[in-house]
Amino acid sequence: MPIAPTPSHSLAPPLPPAWHAPLQIGPIALANRLFVAPMAGVTDRPFRMLCRQLGAGYAVSEMVTSQPHLYRSLKTSRRANHEGEPGPIAVQIAGTDAQMMAEAARYNIERGAQIIDINMGCPAKKVCNAWAGSALMQNEPLALAIAQAVVAACQPHGVPVTLKMRTGWSARHKNAVALARAFEQAGIQMLTVHGRTREQGYKGQAEYDTIAAVKQAVRIPVVANGDITSPEKAWQALQRTGADALMIGRAAQGAPWIFSAIAHYLHTGTQAPPPATAQVRQWLLAHLLEHYRLYGEYSGVRTARKHIGWYLRGLPGSQALRQRLNQEEDCQRQWQQLADYLQELAGQWPQWPVAVGSAPAADDEAEAQNAFEASEASSPAISACAPCRP
Ligand SMILES: Cc1cc2nc3c(=O)[nH]c(=O)nc-3n(C[C@H](O)[C@H](O)[C@H](O)COP(=O)(O)O)c2cc1C
Repeated sequence: MPIAPTPSHSLAPPLPPAWHAPLQIGPIALANRLFVAPMAGVTDRPFRMLCRQLGAGYAVSEMVTSQPHLYRSLKTSRRANHEGEPGPIAVQIAGTDAQMMAEAARYNIERGAQIIDINMGCPAKKVCNAWAGSALMQNEPLALAIAQAVVAACQPHGVPVTLKMRTGWSARHKNAVALARAFEQAGIQMLTVHGRTREQGYKGQAEYDTIAAVKQAVRIPVVANGDITSPEKAWQALQRTGADALMIGRAAQGAPWIFSAIAHYLHTGTQAPPPATAQVRQWLLAHLLEHYRLYGEYSGVRTARKHIGWYLRGLPGSQALRQRLNQEEDCQRQWQQLADYLQELAGQWPQWPVAVGSAPAADDEAEAQNAFEASEASSPAISACAPCRP
């Protein structure tokens, strides 16, 4: 049963004036303050470009490994593919060795990165015999050494370094504020904070008080992230944190127009009307074509399934179609079946029948995990080296 869009109504008071100014990261002015979160196995170039087209002001790539012997792997080179992508090109690097991270930063700058983002946000397991991602928050000297080494590598190129982290290691070790101050001193130019601890993984609710405390503690821009699933939640996150920008991850899966919906709400206090189904059909079909182009026929038809599953969530009669498309091994047939279904849907529902933020969320975590695992499975070398799974 589709979920009817909520009627337009005015709720939100005006935005703080700073929200209307471009956000500056070093020499780079970002188009707006709504960002799509890096999600390994999801935010590849076609999806990032779609999010940018639909209102995201900034998109960081999926993380790439800092292990030199994996630079040329198919997965890393796909992740490093920025063909036709609007700038700035922001590359996220993950690893545990300061010099290797510095080297990875230089390597990516030589290949076009304009911003380097350090991953201290993933609830990674033990990888390459050391703890990576948000686990680094437990080892403050190492976390700082990595930030310093990467900044030193990027400075000569005029490339700003940003960093994404969590609120801390565990409920009893929320050290985001102390680390934020140290990172600012080290020359980090923007911080994103996901409002969960590493221990929480993706469970429980993101909390915004620690993000607010980080914002109070530093002068560099702070980006709030975690559980922003609707325009109203975006507004609340902004109010609660005073953040300079918002980052949206899972809620953009299957609804990349969430960025323009949030922008509309933040600027007008009213809900944007849902997009026309015919328009969504065009976006989705174009997305799939770009997806097949990047991954090729064999991987493309398989990795497209997760996006199709997210797009179909909550739509009438979509369960059976989803199952059929999950078995499909031919891109053209997969694309055509979706095209036909959406054509029919547009006849019945001229406006997209699932409101942003209202798609069933119960299986989000499992779906995210499946999507990530499906994408990592094709490259065991990296999967062993840089897991970031929820
Ligand atoms: C499938 C998946 C992959 C992710 N991959 C990354 C990653 O590569 N780098 C990173 O910093 N965070 C990664 N994350 C975390 C997200 O960027 C974000 O911090 C998290 O999902 C919380 O935001 P949300 O509630 O808006 O989804 C990933 C999350 C998911 C669901």
